[in-house]
Amino acid sequence: MSTERPRFPLPRYPRGWFQVAWADELAPGDVKPLRVFGKDLVMMRTESGVVSVLDAFCPHLGAHLGHGGKVVGESLRCPFHAWEFGASGACTKVPYASRVPNKSSIPAWHVRERNGHLYVWHDIDGRAPEWELPEIPEWNSSDWTPYIRRDWVLKTHNQEMAENVVDTAHFKYVHGMKIKPEPHLVESGYPTLNMQTRTIMETAMGEVGGELDVECHGFGFSTSRFTGLVRTTVIASVTPIDENDVHVRFSFTVHTGNGAGVARGVGKAFTAEIARQLEEDRPIWEHKRYFERPMLCDGDGPFGLFRRWCKQFYPDWYAQEAEEAYKKAWDVAEVA
Ligand code: FES
Ligand SMILES: [Fe+2]
Repeated sequence: MSTERPRFPLPRYPRGWFQVAWADELAPGDVKPLRVFGKDLVMMRTESGVVSVLDAFCPHLGAHLGHGGKVVGESLRCPFHAWEFGASGACTKVPYASRVPNKSSIPAWHVRERNGHLYVWHDIDGRAPEWELPEIPEWNSSDWTPYIRRDWVLKTHNQEMAENVVDTAHFKYVHGMKIKPEPHLVESGYPTLNMQTRTIMETAMGEVGGELDVECHGFGFSTSRFTGLVRTTVIASVTPIDENDVHVRFSFTVHTGNGAGVARGVGKAFTAEIARQLEEDRPIWEHKRYFERPMLCDGDGPFGLFRRWCKQFYPDWYAQEAEEAYKKAWDVAEVA
């Protein structure tokens, strides 16, 4: 057993909806391998446009369907012996057999196509979706620019990235903001957390004062709406890949009320600012440890409320197991 104290004594794969692609990355007829939640999956879009995400390995002799699999009409054909599977994962055809074997279907994942994104539901206990993600009115609206997209792979944990929102002190000391933002309303439930903050954004176009309205839906999806000189929205998606990495995707959009030229300029400056902040956070996130009992002070943000909200997305048994493994590793390290 490793005697090293784990960086994150937290369950790695929380419950929720997680973005696995921008929708137009999967055209009709496309098949792609997918690595999320420490698992190998395959995603495909049938000829008629139905999106399906399945476990990757063919039940026949184990070929990975994402490497060489082909869409044939509404089915996915295995590259090895041409068995075919429908969007539900059911085996629909074995071209050289007189009948399809029983129990030959592949587990299918719950998928949603919304907001120009593809999302997959994850629950470690295999339960069906417990909530739906909201429709984002900015998406596909003539009053808002098309998304500007950015993505990163980071060595951190979903909860650590989400904690950025309540860590008000770091905005001054990491991101160089002149004043420490003060959240003036926090509401939390299942699965949402809301926070409004009066703040000043430093942008290439100068300082812009305004209101930041953040809404999280579990750990996978959040919207940050900045109402300042020009209204801007970022949809942030964080998807666990495996024990080490998360895939972060940001979709930025800007209100076009002040003209397309202004929106383009603000969009560029805003995206650069958020990307700069993420790069400033990166070395801290990628090397820090998660303390369950951090030494907080009265100037810190609402960490307690935030962490209570977080617990809802981990099954009790799983959280317990992670806690025990953590304690064990820590005791061994202490003795050594
Ligand atoms: S391994 Fe898929 S058809 Fe044989
Ligand atoms: Fe940050």
